[in-house]
Amino acid sequence: MSDSVKISYKEKEFTYPVIEGTMGDIAVDISTLRSDTGLITLDEGFKNTGSTESSVTFLDGDKGQLLYRGYSIDELAENATFTEVMYLLLYGELPTASQLDSFNKELQENCTVNQGVKDMVNAFPTTAHPMSMVGAISFTLSSFYPEVGEVKTPEEFDKAAMILLAKFPALCAMAYRRTNSLPINLADPSLDYVSNFYQLMFKNDQNIEISPSIVSALNKLLILHADHEQNCSAATVRVVGSSQAGLSASIAAGVAALWGPLHGGANQAVIEMLEDIKKDGSGLQFWVDKAKDKTHAFRLMGFGHRVYKNFDPRAKIIKQATDEVLAQLGIKDDVLDLAKGLEEVALQDEYFVKRNLYPNVDFYSGIIYRALGIPKEMFTVMFALGRLPGWIAQWKELRIDKQAIGRPRQVYIGAKTRSYVSLDKR
Ligand code: CMC
Repeated sequence: MSDSVKISYKEKEFTYPVIEGTMGDIAVDISTLRSDTGLITLDEGFKNTGSTESSVTFLDGDKGQLLYRGYSIDELAENATFTEVMYLLLYGELPTASQLDSFNKELQENCTVNQGVKDMVNAFPTTAHPMSMVGAISFTLSSFYPEVGEVKTPEEFDKAAMILLAKFPALCAMAYRRTNSLPINLADPSLDYVSNFYQLMFKNDQNIEISPSIVSALNKLLILHADHEQNCSAATVRVVGSSQAGLSASIAAGVAALWGPLHGGANQAVIEMLEDIKKDGSGLQFWVDKAKDKTHAFRLMGFGHRVYKNFDPRAKIIKQATDEVLAQLGIKDDVLDLAKGLEEVALQDEYFVKRNLYPNVDFYSGIIYRALGIPKEMFTVMFALGRLPGWIAQWKELRIDKQAIGRPRQVYIGAKTRSYVSLDKR
């Protein structure tokens, strides 16, 4: 007999089934709780709430395990390209050689953006944060490419996903060029996905040489960011998509959620924190103590995770890749030594040990981005570029499953019913 949970309330007993996922995760299905009992659940921050069943990504926070469609992130980061992982996330299986070839060709054929989008980018002040530009352009993209708005059939989905994925590198690079008052580069349909992105970012008069180390590091970083089950931005994309908002509008909402420093914005915040630590000279213990002090809002950025309570497997891979990339590019970055020192001090501190706070994906990624010449204001944009296929896969799953509109309940704690008081009596 399958497991169940019994709830006693007002001398009545109600039974709810326990459901088990394919990797052994368990949940109590309370979908009839309110109609049975009148009760709702209260779970601020959704710490115990599963919002959906999903077959895209699995993570086990205790084991530090992360799988995309059943494949471990370690194997994918080591062996796959980012576009291969895009295909896997969108369609559930690794592509065959010919499927990947057609997918890559289609990405190349769709990689340019029209003049209207460029004009829009050029209307931004050069002081704008690149994330605000990427969010705004994502939101308005369906005005320029109606295919990424209304999506009803599988064919329309394929087209919309392709346009978004193909054009996103150009959107991200345009934001960088604008904030640096540089002319926008034209996409090069003859290049692979990451090389095209790199050229869009950095070429000036002529194409630049891109070393295999740079291509490999970019592929790895983008793969490691590609999906992370029901995180804040993916959950946002799903809630917005559940109102039947269009694909690009839902993605724009994901970009907005990602920007916050507790989510994707942490990668920029980590480098800023490390730069502050270096400048300040008070020593690492001082900063660790400050992070522990509850009278300060300061936290060690790049530390802690809602789900990982042992280690973040992405951080482990990125830490190792950081050493490799810096060695391959012949770069010595003393901020890396500082980051390693900070990790060591924090991991020996009882406060961090007791709360299971470890470096997360954002702790070391910025050091690789710096080595690749990507400035800190672009770090969260890099995260968005990586996360895009995950957001799209989550959106697709939601729409195929025809999930109900995302609409949580609340426990109201405001004023009780009262009568309007006219202005002269207040
Ligand atoms: N520095 C100091 N204390 C921390 C930190 C930190 N980075 N993270 C958590 N804590 C403490 C927190 O104060 C709380 O202490 P207490 O039990 O005494 O009240 C305890 O640890 C649990 O923290 P929480 O805020 O309840 O945990 P959460 O699961 O709600 O938050 C988190 C997770 C990632 C928002 C949080 O760890 C954090 O703010 N980290 C810094 C920002 C960061 O690096 N974000 C990137 C997350 S990974 C990538 C991504 O999602 O984009």
